[in-house]
Parts: sequence; C-alpha cells; structure tokens
Amino acid sequence: MGKIILTGDRPTGKLHLGHFVGSLSRRVELQNSGEFEKIFIMIADAQALTDNADNPDKVRENIIEVALDYLSCGIDPTRSTIFIQSQVAELCELAFYYMNLVTVQRLQRNPTVKAEIQMRGFSDNAAEEDTQQRPGTPVGFFTYPISQASDITAFRATTVPVGDDQEPMIEQTREIVHKFNAVYGPTLVMPEIMLPTNSACLRLPGTDGKAKMSKSLGNCIYLSDTPEEVRKKVMSMYTDPGHLRVEDPGKIEGNTVFTYLDAFCRDEHFAKYLPEYESLDALKDHYRRGGLGDVKVKRFLLAVLEELLTPIRERRHAFEQDIEGIYRILKEGSDKAREAAAATLADVRRAMRIDYFEDKELIARQSEQYKTTK
Ligand code: TRP
Repeated sequence: MGKIILTGDRPTGKLHLGHFVGSLSRRVELQNSGEFEKIFIMIADAQALTDNADNPDKVRENIIEVALDYLSCGIDPTRSTIFIQSQVAELCELAFYYMNLVTVQRLQRNPTVKAEIQMRGFSDNAAEEDTQQRPGTPVGFFTYPISQASDITAFRATTVPVGDDQEPMIEQTREIVHKFNAVYGPTLVMPEIMLPTNSACLRLPGTDGKAKMSKSLGNCIYLSDTPEEVRKKVMSMYTDPGHLRVEDPGKIEGNTVFTYLDAFCRDEHFAKYLPEYESLDALKDHYRRGGLGDVKVKRFLLAVLEELLTPIRERRHAFEQDIEGIYRILKEGSDKAREAAAATLADVRRAMRIDYFEDKELIARQSEQYKTTK
C-alpha cells in the first residue's frame, strides 16, 4: 500500500518563516519526491474555531491567506490535495465516535493541550469560571486532539509531517487507532509522525530572540512581507546584547541572526554576497573573536532571506490576481477530500456495526426471528 500524507495549519494568520522552515519547505520536498501516493493538506478552520468561536471572521479571512502562502511556496494542487476542514462533514462524525474511546483524564494529561489552555488563559477550575474570574475551557478546544485523530485517520494517512509540539496529538491518534482496531477489528491505518530533520529548523525563534515566532508576540517575518518590512525586521533583530562595539567579542549562542543563518544560509551565499568569508563557520569565528559588526551580519542575512522570499513573493502576487481560481482549487480539493473521508467513514460504520441499512444479514435474521415467534 502506498504512503499517504496528511498535515495542515490553522488559518489564524498569514504563514511566516517559522512555518516555512518547520513545515512548508519540507512538504514541498516530500511532494516533489514522488514517494507518496497521495498528499492531503488541510486548512484546519474547524480546529481554529475551537478557540475563536467569537471571531469567525478572523478564520474566514485567513483561509485565502494560508492558501496563497501554500501555493506561493510551491504546493502544487495537481499533486497535493488542498482542502478546507469544515467542508468535510465526515470528520465530525468520526470524531463523535472516537470520543467514546478516549477518557477525560487522558485528554487532561495531553501536554500540548495543557500548555495551550494556560497560554490562552482558560480556566480549568469550575469555581473560577462560576465567579467569572476567567472563562473556562471550551469543550471543543479541550477535545481537539480527538478531532485531529479524525483528520489523520479519515485519509488513511501513514505519515504526518508536523513540528514537535504536535507529538502528543499524533500519540493520541495512535492510541485511538489501536483501541478502535482492537475493539472493532482492523479498520484504521496506524500513522507515524515525521519530525523536521534539521535541528536548527525545528523551531525558528522570533526576531526578538523569544523561543518561537508567534503572531501575538509580533516577532514574525511573514512570507508575504514586503522587502521594506523584511529589511526593517532584520535590521532590528535581537543579537548579543553584550556585543556593544564592533571590536567586542560576540556570542553566537542565542544570537538570533546566527540562528537564522544556521537555518537559511549555504556556502554559495558567501560567494555571492560576502566573499571575504568562505563559510558560516568562518563568519562565526570572526564574530566570536571581535571586530565584526552586527550590521554587516544582518545585511548578509537580509540578502540570504531575500533570495528565498523574492520568488515566493512574485508567485504570490501572480496567484493574488486570480482569487476565484484559488477558491475553485479549494472547492475541488474539498470535494476530493470528502470522497476519501466518506470511504473511511463507511468502513468505520461497518466495523462499529451501525451500518443497519447495508446489513442484509441483520435484517434477514431479525425477520426470521419474528416470523418463527408468531
Ligand atoms: N494542530 C495543527 C496545528 O495547530 C493543525 C492540524 C489540525 C493538524 N489537524 C491536523 C496537523 C492533522 C496535522 C494533522 O498546527
């Protein structure tokens, strides 16, 4: 059986460089490798609504942004199926059945859900909620790992390329698959997580040096930023606060500019933009010794980033001229996704013995039973 990919993003904002190194560039590579029979890329609007119930317009407006970002990075709709989660109703039904296979206690132990509840300021304490100190946790949000198991299993995904923060979700999915197959017979495909390979790329810090690029922190470089926006962000990036004068020795660890160079620069970039150095190691050595200013390193990073971002920006501009065409791509992708999910749902219903109208044996047996007792 061929390998199948499912992955996706919540449409709560435009995608940024963190998404690019953590997932987008990998997806394009996997797509172009020809190793996968099918690739599904989902815009997870229903999941985004689990903590944005009062903000549907944010989700609605960002679907096109995410689609534009996908296409401009090289996701090719003739090779990957791009679809919108809410348009595949079968996913809800699967989740409803999977809910019976997961305990409240198990969900409460999910480290990602725990951290996200904290981050969003939801209370997990009834008294606090009753006195309206803090809003409680929406049930839909609390159970989104189960909905994510539906996303993955509906498409019989073998492979789920995601960041390490998604590990607990894939683990939860694997438990559901295991339990389902044990109770109802082999039905669902057991998925594997596929983590990013390059450790420098696992998680790109924000331009302010904070652990992660995040819209709420305002420390992101977006794939759709203009050259001027990128320039400003790079030139004001966090470096080594102890590196005050050019002559001072500088630190590489925790220096965001160098972390980005680790993620994006290759030796060819030196020949092109900074020929005095032959490699990143040589540049780092000079910075450590002292005598190399931040501005020079930042200008180099900017050249490296612009080489990456310019073609993405140009493709985005071209796609932006045909928004209707993009909605057609999303509609066709969603129709195709729905067909695939419906086939799995039919298997699930059969396995769970809720396929009454298809079950000729059930109807025949019960007719017999009542005839003889007449
Ligand atoms: N939770 C993922 C995120 O926040 C998005 C997502 C939803 C997803 N369903 C998925 C990722 C299924 C992989 C597989 O990024």
